[in-house]
Amino acid sequence: VAEIKLRASESQFRSLAQAMPNQVWTAAADGLLDWFNPRVYDFSGLSPGVLDGAGWTALVHPDDLAGAVERWTQSLATGELYESEFRLRRNDGIYRWHLVRAVPIKTETGEITRWVGANTDIDDQKAAVQALADVNTSLETRVAERTKELMVAEEQLRQSHKMEAIGQLTGGIAHDFNNLMTGIISAISLVRRRLETGKTQDLDKLMSAASTSAQRAAALTHRLLAFSRQQSLDVRAVDIGELIQGMRFLLNQTLGEDIQVAVECPPTLWAGMTDANQLESAVLNLVINARDAMPAGGQLSVTMANRTLSAGDVRLESEEEPGDYVEIAVTDTGEGMSEHTLAKAFDPFFTTKPIGQGTGLGLSMVYGFVQQSGGHVRIESEVGKGTRVALYLPRAVDSTIAGPVEDHGGRGARTGGTVLVVEDDPTVRLMVVTALNDWGYDMIQTSSAHEAIPVLRSNKQIDLLLTDVGLPSINGRQLAEIARQFRPGLRVLFMTGYAEKAAMRGQFLDAGMDLVTKPFTLDGLSEKIREVLKGGS
Ligand SMILES: Nc1ncnc2c1ncn2[C@@H]1O[C@H](COP(=O)(O)OP(=O)(O)OP(=O)(O)O)[C@@H](O)[C@H]1O
Ligand SMILES: [Mg+2]
Repeated sequence: VAEIKLRASESQFRSLAQAMPNQVWTAAADGLLDWFNPRVYDFSGLSPGVLDGAGWTALVHPDDLAGAVERWTQSLATGELYESEFRLRRNDGIYRWHLVRAVPIKTETGEITRWVGANTDIDDQKAAVQALADVNTSLETRVAERTKELMVAEEQLRQSHKMEAIGQLTGGIAHDFNNLMTGIISAISLVRRRLETGKTQDLDKLMSAASTSAQRAAALTHRLLAFSRQQSLDVRAVDIGELIQGMRFLLNQTLGEDIQVAVECPPTLWAGMTDANQLESAVLNLVINARDAMPAGGQLSVTMANRTLSAGDVRLESEEEPGDYVEIAVTDTGEGMSEHTLAKAFDPFFTTKPIGQGTGLGLSMVYGFVQQSGGHVRIESEVGKGTRVALYLPRAVDSTIAGPVEDHGGRGARTGGTVLVVEDDPTVRLMVVTALNDWGYDMIQTSSAHEAIPVLRSNKQIDLLLTDVGLPSINGRQLAEIARQFRPGLRVLFMTGYAEKAAMRGQFLDAGMDLVTKPFTLDGLSEKIREVLKGGS
């Protein structure tokens, strides 16, 4: 009876399996496959018999075979459900992913008699999952590529802005200098012609024309250096309130009657660390800008205040640092600035003024000077309402405020002494030496530190070392160091065209040292020499 039952169920199973859309197979207890439904033969294109036993393994993709067999062996040993994914070769040679599962058929006593397995084609699903993964990675790479492209484009834009600014700058300088040089060169050649023919008429006029042009050229380089933050600043603790109050007369003169001026300074204003002369010229620049923005008159105020900027107050994009500052704000009720003007206001040679009225160097000079002082500038402006430009200068920690520079008068009066001159530029050296001679000093002239050192080492009388800072190989500051090894306490006066690195007064100058900034006037030089020799510095 059992035998009949088994036969009946076996034939039922086979007809069921034959009707199923899946690939179905059976295996004996030892794991050798012994029957496949027609789907398997359709799929593989193989004829019955070929797949029997271990023949099926020929259908499995070589890369997947080891895994499939290992699992199968494991299931046979433990009697656990078999489940594996691998590729099977279709009749056209293409491999497709299948999910292969098999369950053991057990007797009532738990003995495994057979295995029934089914293969389900999951290739489309797999492909979809893979495609999704591909899309993700390609999306990532595309995002990365785009970002890189954008960065390159941005860099190019920055570069082209920079080139534009440099073009504007060099164009502006070339134009202004050409004009000034024309003035100087033609005046000199006219003077020479007069001298050659023994005529003296107009000599004075020509000389002062040349000197005016030269001074304007000097002022221009000065502003450029200020902008590039390379001017040599005489930074000290300055009573800013007093300085601005001292400018009142000048302000009233500059502004005329249609503009009302108010100056506000709290009595507790801190001292600021800055160069007094440069600050004065910066404020004057702002005031002139304000005046130009109020052609029909208006109100102008210069206000000062103590400001403590915390880390949250500073604007990182403009390189501001937290700390204590003295604020000097110039506010006008003028026409204001458009966004475009505001964005470009600090650019050198950017001006909205007609040719000949503005050089466009005012704000760039103010900006450079304030940055070099360790502060920053903020502008707020609204078209039709007005503009507020605020300078933030670092608070002076050392509260000793330098008194006003004494006026020595009696220009050119000699105090006597021997000056060692070190200057590599022959023209400047000639001028300095000629002037020293006129003033009655004795002098030794050299063109480099290498020439000067033997003189310093000798026992010749030297009262002052007058040296250029920007000398080749050993610079002026280093020379002074060497000089003081042989002659402690030797007076030193530096001449400098710009502040090499940090030629801020405090770090640069020791006692008995001072500096004059090129271009200097001979009167200015003479006064400095007398000051240094007298011992006050
Ligand atoms: N207070 C202000 N109100 C309105 N616009 C201003 C003000 N200050 C500056 N600007 C604008 O910024 C531009 C640049 O100013 P900047 O001082 O650098 O040059 P400038 O005044 O044109 O020439 P310069 O100062 O060299 O004579 C001005 O041309 C003007 O358009
Ligand atoms: Mg200006």
